[in-house]
Amino acid sequence: MPRIQHPSAVVASCALAMATLALPFQLQAQDAAPALKDLMPPGILIGAAINQRQSDGVDAAGVAIVTRQFNATTPENLLKFQLVHPAADRFAFDAQDRYVAFGEAHGMTVIGHNLVWHQQTPAWVFAGENGAPADRDTLLARMREHITTVVGRYRGRIHGWDVVNEALAEDGTLRDSPWRRGIGDDYVARAFELAHAADPDAELYYNEYNLWKPEKRAGAIRLVQDLRRQGLRVDAIGVQGHWSLETPTMDEIEAIVRDLQAAGIKAMLSELDINLLPPTPDLQGLDAAARAEAIAKTNPYANGLPDAVQQKLADRYADIFRMVLRHRDEFRRVTFWGVSDGDSWLNRGRMNYPLLWDRQHQPKPAFDAVVRVLEGR
Ligand code: XIL
Repeated sequence: MPRIQHPSAVVASCALAMATLALPFQLQAQDAAPALKDLMPPGILIGAAINQRQSDGVDAAGVAIVTRQFNATTPENLLKFQLVHPAADRFAFDAQDRYVAFGEAHGMTVIGHNLVWHQQTPAWVFAGENGAPADRDTLLARMREHITTVVGRYRGRIHGWDVVNEALAEDGTLRDSPWRRGIGDDYVARAFELAHAADPDAELYYNEYNLWKPEKRAGAIRLVQDLRRQGLRVDAIGVQGHWSLETPTMDEIEAIVRDLQAAGIKAMLSELDINLLPPTPDLQGLDAAARAEAIAKTNPYANGLPDAVQQKLADRYADIFRMVLRHRDEFRRVTFWGVSDGDSWLNRGRMNYPLLWDRQHQPKPAFDAVVRVLEGR
């Protein structure tokens, strides 16, 4: 007797058939697209920050882009202190091990991000006895255990580490961070020292944003030179590159490269994305309706990106990659902060379009523009 199919099963099997039909076409489209990693000048890696759905293989479309296009990868969150070391007596290594294995399985250079930062670090790290902040020795011991365990675990497998992230204030002096309050100004040096001891072959980076500001950039250069004077290893400065369409200007960006080169410090664009939206509204104290209204007011592309803006984004990325090619001796790596627009941390409840692939994982005009620059057209 023929089995009578429930209507939903018919719908499901039709959808499956359509998906199977659509798949070879999509794969073909992906395969036919040029791969950024084949077009970059020798000596400059091209990477993407990946999220856990990607390193776990759940986001198949994202994985297809990552493995075809990139030869370096950074964990968007997994190796941050609070995720890898959530409690004093507990490390979490399951998803982290899969991240490293993912990169290795696809022949990518695996980057670690990050060891010492004032954000995404659990409160227990900075807490001392009876509600007081932890003293220098306690904090140094915690830093030592953290860095030794995490860097040591991936010794020889994680190629380079963002050792200290965002240590500077906008004026280029050390920012007031709980690490600095507890340990003192030498906390940066101690972190680099511990990271080097845990994996002497790993590259070590200082990673920072807003380096287009002359004072902050001067502070970063001073910091690295000071570390090097102490005999510590610092391979490069990670220039985050969370930029907008018009700011910083290409001249301001070029100045970063020029000054780092003059100081003998290699550069990496470590977290590249282009924010197309106005600043996030201050939602404090607003009720639900007022919040929604405030968000809507600063969400101009909620229903799609106008062609003219799409083109501006493509031009911006073309300018950035032309700049990288002009300074091919200075740059070691360019890493996008995310893969497709839907993944980006810049959405935060709004619709942003900061990357080279759209929400359907299709390459955008910005991708084509980067390819044209890299192909020398
Ligand atoms: C961001 C991640 O993208 C988000 O998912 C997370 O919620 C917050 O951190 N500078 C850095 C990155 O060095 O680690 C930050 O990543 C973006 C700013």
